[in-house]
Amino acid sequence: MMKVTATKSSLKTVRCGLLAIPFATGDLGKEARNTLEAFGLETQALKDFKAKAGEALLLYPSDSKLKSRRVLLVGLGEADDISEFRKAARALAARAKSLEVGTVVFDCSAIPSWAKAVGEKAAFLAEVFTEAFIAGSYVFDRLKSGKLDKEKKKEKDAVSVELKLRVNAGNLKDVKEGARRGSIVGEAVSLARDLVNLPGSHLTAEGIAEAARRSARKSGCTATIFDRKQIEKMGMGGLLAVNKGSHNPPTFTVLEYEPPVKPVATVALVGKGVTFDSGGISIKPSQGMDEMKCDMGGAAAVIGAIEAVARLELPLRVITLVPATDNMPDGSAQTPGDVITTYSGITVEVGNTDAEGRLILADALAYAVKHYKPDAVIDLATLTGACIVALGYSVAGFFSNDDQFAGKIYEAGQRSGEKVWRMPLWEEYAELIKSEVADVHNTGGKGAGTVTAAKFLEKFTDGQENWAHIDIAGPAFSSKGTGGSYGGTGFGVRLLVDLLSGWE
Ligand code: BES
Ligand code: MN
Ligand code: ZN
Repeated sequence: MMKVTATKSSLKTVRCGLLAIPFATGDLGKEARNTLEAFGLETQALKDFKAKAGEALLLYPSDSKLKSRRVLLVGLGEADDISEFRKAARALAARAKSLEVGTVVFDCSAIPSWAKAVGEKAAFLAEVFTEAFIAGSYVFDRLKSGKLDKEKKKEKDAVSVELKLRVNAGNLKDVKEGARRGSIVGEAVSLARDLVNLPGSHLTAEGIAEAARRSARKSGCTATIFDRKQIEKMGMGGLLAVNKGSHNPPTFTVLEYEPPVKPVATVALVGKGVTFDSGGISIKPSQGMDEMKCDMGGAAAVIGAIEAVARLELPLRVITLVPATDNMPDGSAQTPGDVITTYSGITVEVGNTDAEGRLILADALAYAVKHYKPDAVIDLATLTGACIVALGYSVAGFFSNDDQFAGKIYEAGQRSGEKVWRMPLWEEYAELIKSEVADVHNTGGKGAGTVTAAKFLEKFTDGQENWAHIDIAGPAFSSKGTGGSYGGTGFGVRLLVDLLSGWE
């Protein structure tokens, strides 16, 4: 567990395992020397420290005037971009984690001037620090028994870390509020990461539904879980078709959040919940197939987002909808060439069983539009490998039928650091998913795989205003060796919370 608080205690007297003192590149030189001297620290250290964002230099004060055993110089870079502050907090958390310190004090006395430099409020920066610190101290160790590796066992029992943001009295209230918000969002991100990190053996469709129910209980949302029978009765032919080859029943989960005030809008969030995507009969190559446990990254993001929205008590009505199943080959699996009837009545020719995400989303989108008459619908999905080809691993592709709405999503991406780049929904692309035998085909041939997938989804939105589709195939999961830590990232939670926080 992580706890983040604010304090106005003096740096000299505060007791902690690690005291973090941040410097921007512009602070180096005389100012930094003075600070270190005032604390009784060796100024020599500054020779080895360039204050790059995320750089950290550990000092052990011998004859210091401080009560802390360790001091960490933390780099803020130019300190004029939020991403630098995020990097710094993540680096600090990583150090705190490896040093196994219980309490970290982070000197944020300069928070008003940092906030000014990035054009945000102090509370927002405190929120960013908190979120990033929680992200940096995240560990996924629940599948380690510790039977072979005693160190891992120790890690599992590791002490909880407390972060104290040290500020001047005048900023205490704002920074406390920022830390509260950041803790809520940070916990929601960790939940999403946990769900993505659980492999198919540990998180089935029923497991997703259960996790969603638990989250709803914690945040005060209402949960409705539809089981196979009900899904059959509703006629969700897309979800059932993908589930045909599976030994695990599908689920369709709906979480609803009603704000304590009159809602300013109703927003539906739809997330792809494929617990494992083998490709089905159109089976994938085995290389890297294990990473297809991440194929419920969209579901994880929308479950995390609604948990945060509810705990933050945002003045919107939000509904999260999650169709869930795995995609497996089997004697009873759907086969290429099959024609299915989806929830909307639209028939689909299944040219490739590996284009399964769009089949389950088709049902969920149509259901969301029909039942909730939302002002906006946003779906998140690890939908196409083509999106990784186009934009790589750190940016999501997105589509919207409304320019103004698209602008807001883009801005939320920039602010939250979960960047998105818009792609076109032009009619030319609809040609590519025409079927000879059904209303529409589930694949679009060679080119523009991300766009044809979006054009397919669009058919099931029934003219819904403010619809957006976000393809998170790249950023939902970080592979070994691509830098950063292995596993689920929780991508989408911060983006959505940022978007919904600014709703007017
Ligand atoms: N889940 C995959 C997309 C994916 C790929 C997510 C890599 C994360 C990382 C999706 O279901 C899929 O298989 N898409 C196919 C579509 C094709 C068959 C039209 C793809 O991208 O190859
Ligand atoms: Mn697939
Ligand atoms: Zn998939």
